[in-house]
Amino acid sequence: MTRDLLEIDDLTPAELGRLLDTARKWKADPSAVPRALAGRGVALVFEKPSARTRTSAEMAAYLLGGHPIAIRAEEVGIDTRETAEDVARTLAGFCAVIAARVFDHGVLVRMAAAVEVPVVNLLSDVAHPCQALADLMTIGEVFGGVEGRRVAFVGDGNNVAASLAYGAALTGFELIVSSPPGYELDEHLVDRARNLGGAIELVADPNEAVRDVDVVYTDVWTSMGEEDEAEARREVFNAWRVGPELMDQAGSGAVFMHCLPAHRGEEVAADVIDGPASVVWQQVENRMHTKRALFAWLVSAQEVV
Ligand code: CP
Ligand code: NVA
Repeated sequence: MTRDLLEIDDLTPAELGRLLDTARKWKADPSAVPRALAGRGVALVFEKPSARTRTSAEMAAYLLGGHPIAIRAEEVGIDTRETAEDVARTLAGFCAVIAARVFDHGVLVRMAAAVEVPVVNLLSDVAHPCQALADLMTIGEVFGGVEGRRVAFVGDGNNVAASLAYGAALTGFELIVSSPPGYELDEHLVDRARNLGGAIELVADPNEAVRDVDVVYTDVWTSMGEEDEAEARREVFNAWRVGPELMDQAGSGAVFMHCLPAHRGEEVAADVIDGPASVVWQQVENRMHTKRALFAWLVSAQEVV
């Protein structure tokens, strides 16, 4: 059966655990990385800008012996030049994996339904599962495991927060989310994460949310595609900035995380993201390690059929 990764809970907890183990193993010993994609293409379609996701995916494909093909949205014209399904069917003709960053998550669902090769979400309006993989790996590295840890996400209840919530449910850490009124995580998503076993708590006051946590995580206040709202959001989110005072209320040894790109002086103070508690560059590096393990697993899962 072909497997896709449109959201992190497309993986079972056991599969997720094995995938993170593989990522760790290959990070420690690059000589163990198999040529799982030798002679095969990996299509990487981007409807939005990307630095980390594109480069980590290209390197992951290359290091598995594959050939990454990055394609900008205007080059294929999803649902303008031809349908999303036809784009996917075309790419499936010569690629072992199709990965895409899209505005509308529904486009990924349609692509996945149209083809027999794995489809990977490189960020949509509602989810960023590849980011969550790197986040889980990083928390695990910093604390020697994720289970039982307490993580506070401070800011917009967006795609990154959503995937982190499912990641928490699958791996057993507690997630406390603090967002301004009207910008909370979607309640259906919270219910679903809780039904998966997640300890997800919504706390209005950011100061209360970060009390004694192990990780303070934030993301931009305005995601790609929401630029028209940027000014209004700057007003609303002001009290949710992660500054030194907020970090002081977290537990001793707490780390700061951010998926990047970051806006110093907006969602995070420079002193925090550039300070000793920040593990953002470790997160970035782990984007490649986790994606390499993901691509190899997706291809092998398909070959088991
Ligand atoms: N965190 C992340 O996905 O970064 P890019 O948008 O640069 O890919
Ligand atoms: N929430 C952000 C994440 C960027 C990696 C966005 O969607 O723009």
